[in-house]
Amino acid sequence: MISKHFTEKLIEWHLDKNKRVMPWKGEKDPYKIWISEIILQQTRVEQGLEYYNKFILRYPTVHLLANAPEEEIFKMWEGLGYYSRCKNLISTAKNIFFDFYGNFPTTFEGILKLKGVGPYTAAAIASFAFGLPHAVVDGNVTRVLSRYFGESMPIDSTSGKIYFTQLANELLYKKDPAQFNQAIMDFGATICKPQNPLCNDCVMIDQCVGYKSNIVELLPVKEKKLIKKKRWLSYFVFKLDNGVFIKKRTEKDIWQNLHEFFLIESKKHIEWDNKSINEYLNSKLNIYDFEILSVSETAVQQLTHQTLEGEFITIRIKKVPKCLDKYMLVDFEQLDKIAFPRFITSHLEKVND
Ligand code: ADE
Repeated sequence: MISKHFTEKLIEWHLDKNKRVMPWKGEKDPYKIWISEIILQQTRVEQGLEYYNKFILRYPTVHLLANAPEEEIFKMWEGLGYYSRCKNLISTAKNIFFDFYGNFPTTFEGILKLKGVGPYTAAAIASFAFGLPHAVVDGNVTRVLSRYFGESMPIDSTSGKIYFTQLANELLYKKDPAQFNQAIMDFGATICKPQNPLCNDCVMIDQCVGYKSNIVELLPVKEKKLIKKKRWLSYFVFKLDNGVFIKKRTEKDIWQNLHEFFLIESKKHIEWDNKSINEYLNSKLNIYDFEILSVSETAVQQLTHQTLEGEFITIRIKKVPKCLDKYMLVDFEQLDKIAFPRFITSHLEKVND
């Protein structure tokens, strides 16, 4: 049977040829597996590794994570993106420590109830920690399956999601679900890659419908096109004596719980020069006594669904204006203790040089 071929070949490849070494491989502690899987949601393994090692060193147990200061945890997460993951991580650590007496749930359904844990992460934890028969299904897995079976059902449609989840669970190697899940993740990441897949190194090539029909590069099919929203961020870095004004972002938006400077956001590029800065500070913010120290080059950052561009306008002021009422004045030396988005730390690194 064709599906038996897939599972056998995949496990064979994993045992003989999969050379990917990662610190969480073979790990049985659900806490550590959970940390690694949350970090790896939306993050490449290469980037996630450093954060995983840092986290486990500082918080080797759920007890230590649940009792650590939140600001410190956000600082550790700085640069990883998708900061709601960090917020959920903190809330789940407290949930496990205080409500479950430090015991991680041991069933798929129990794990799925944890904040920040979806079906993929629950299947990963359930199989790696407890050997439970749940297949992981994400973009990597659906890509491998749609190519191998030559299946053009859109992977982001409701019926596509159900279909590929059922298929993955049928293919799952029931004797060792953890091995199957780790194998398919690694196979998708290193052989059946999104671009330039290594078909010549693939052990499944003789049964791969996508390869035989010469449609590998056309699969998987997606229904929705990703439209990126553009945001222009003008940051006013107001300096007073040895400090700078910052505030925490609280809105339900990117970078929730991270800090930033005074922000003007627009859909379109704003040209900042001495004249427009003077006009803006005078007429909109009622600031008259100031010195323009610098206007940065345009900074750019691509997020999955958004393109961010903007500038940093550094201004020295002599007293606290009304618009900064709710801001904190933080000493320059303290800035490296505070969590900022990468858009801002990249700027701070440049001006510190
Ligand atoms: N992506 C998500 N979880 C992973 C894991 N355990 N190994 C490799 N890549 C992953």
